[in-house]
Amino acid sequence: MPSVYIETYGCQMNLADTELMRGHLARSGYAAADDPAAADVILLNTCAIREHAEERIVGRLGALARFKLRRPHVQIGIAGCMAQHVRDQLLARTPHLDFVVGPDAYRRLPALLGGDPFVDVRLDRDETYADLVPERGAGVRAWITIMRGCDKFCTFCIVPYVRGRERSVPSDAVLRQVREVVTQGHREVVFLGQTVNAYRDGATDFGDLLRAADRTQGLARTRFTSPHPSDMSDSAIDAMATCRTVCPQLHLPVQSGSTAVLEQMERGYSVDDYLRLIERLRAAIPGLALTTDIIVGFPGESERDFEATLALMREVRFDGAFTFAYSRRDHTKAAKWDQTVSAEEKARRLQAVIALQESIAAEINAGLVGREVEVLVEGPARRGDGWLAGKTLHFKTAVFPTGGAIAMGDLVRVRVTDSTAHTLIAQ
Ligand code: 5AD
Ligand code: SF4
Repeated sequence: MPSVYIETYGCQMNLADTELMRGHLARSGYAAADDPAAADVILLNTCAIREHAEERIVGRLGALARFKLRRPHVQIGIAGCMAQHVRDQLLARTPHLDFVVGPDAYRRLPALLGGDPFVDVRLDRDETYADLVPERGAGVRAWITIMRGCDKFCTFCIVPYVRGRERSVPSDAVLRQVREVVTQGHREVVFLGQTVNAYRDGATDFGDLLRAADRTQGLARTRFTSPHPSDMSDSAIDAMATCRTVCPQLHLPVQSGSTAVLEQMERGYSVDDYLRLIERLRAAIPGLALTTDIIVGFPGESERDFEATLALMREVRFDGAFTFAYSRRDHTKAAKWDQTVSAEEKARRLQAVIALQESIAAEINAGLVGREVEVLVEGPARRGDGWLAGKTLHFKTAVFPTGGAIAMGDLVRVRVTDSTAHTLIAQ
C-alpha cells in the first residue's frame, strides 16, 4: 500500500481540507504516514494569504527534496491556495516538485498520483466535496466546512482568486456530518467558510443551519469562523442568542478602524456600521467575546487612519486580534496601487496594534479572576504534568490542575485564579 504524508499550512479551512484529502486518499488505497522519510507521497497543503506564507513553503520544498535522493519514486506535491496561485511557475522552478493540485481538484488526486507529473488547478463553481468523508483527528473539536470560496473581492485579498466562487454544502450533508462527528465522540463543531455566514442552501440561511444543528443530541458546543460583518443577518444573530450550543463568541474581522481605508478595501461597511453591528450583537448576546483581524499599512493608510484603528480597538475592546502587515498579492486591485507605507512603518504600526491588543486582552482576562467558567477539556496542558487545558465558552484557553477523574471531552466548572493576555489559570 503506498503511503501519503500531509503537512498543513494556513487557516482552519486548510486543516479541514487536509482531513478531506486524508479520507479520500485512505479510501483509494493510501495509508497515512506520520513521517515524510517513510512516505511515497509528500503533500504540502499551502496558504497564499501573505507573501511570508508562500516563502515558508518554498523553503520547505527545498528541504523535502532530500527524501527523493534514496527513494526516487517519491512524489512531492503542493495542494491548496498557493498551488492555485503559483502553479506552473513553481513547477518549472522546482525540479523535484511532481504535482500541483488546486483546492477544487482534490477529488481527482488518487487518479493522478503514481503517474506522470501533473498540474490540476481547475476551479469548479459547484465542487463542495459534500459526499467525501473526511478523516478527522481524535480531538474534542470537529471542523465542518459548510461553504467554500468567496465572492467579496476585498481589494487586498487573494482568496477569491485562489479559492474561486462562493458555494454552500447542502444543509442535509452538513447536518449528517454534525450527527456523525457527535457519534464519533466529538463534543464541539466549528462551521468553516471563507465568509461562513454567507451560507445559503435554498431557503436555508446561516441562522437556520445553526438552529438545525443545535438540535443534535449529544452536541455540546457550536462555533463558526470566519463571518463577514456585511452578512451578519438578524437570523444569524437570533440563532447565536437563542441556540443552546452556539457559544457566545465571535471572530468578526474589521480590518481597519478608518472608514476611508475600509472603502478602499471595498469591505462594504463603514466604521459606524461595524460599531452598530457590535452594539446589536452585544445587546442580543450578553457577555459576547469578540475577536477580529486587523491589517496595518494598507496602501494609502495615513497616520490618522492608523490612529483611527487604535481608537476603534480601544472602543470595542476585543478579546483578541490577529494583526497583519499588509502584504501585496498578485491579481488583487490593491496590488496595482502605490505602496505608500514603508516596510519599517508597517512594522511600527504592527507593533503598536499588538501592544495595545495585548494590554486590552490582559485587562479583560484579569477581570475574570475569581469567576467560575465552564471548560471543555481538550487534554494535557503544555505547562506539563498534572495540568489540563481546554477552552471556555468564550473561546479562551484555560489551564487547571487535574483533580479526580477528568477526561478529554468533559465539561468542567473551574474558578479563575490568575490570567495573562492569552490564558486563564484556574482551579
Ligand atoms: N495582507 C495582509 N493581511 C491579509 N489578510 C488577507 N489578505 C491580506 C493581505 N494581502 C488578512 C485579513 C484576513 C485574514 C485572514 O488575513 O485580515 O481577515
Ligand atoms: Fe478575502 Fe474579503 Fe473574501 Fe475575506 S471576505 S476571504 S478578506 S476577499
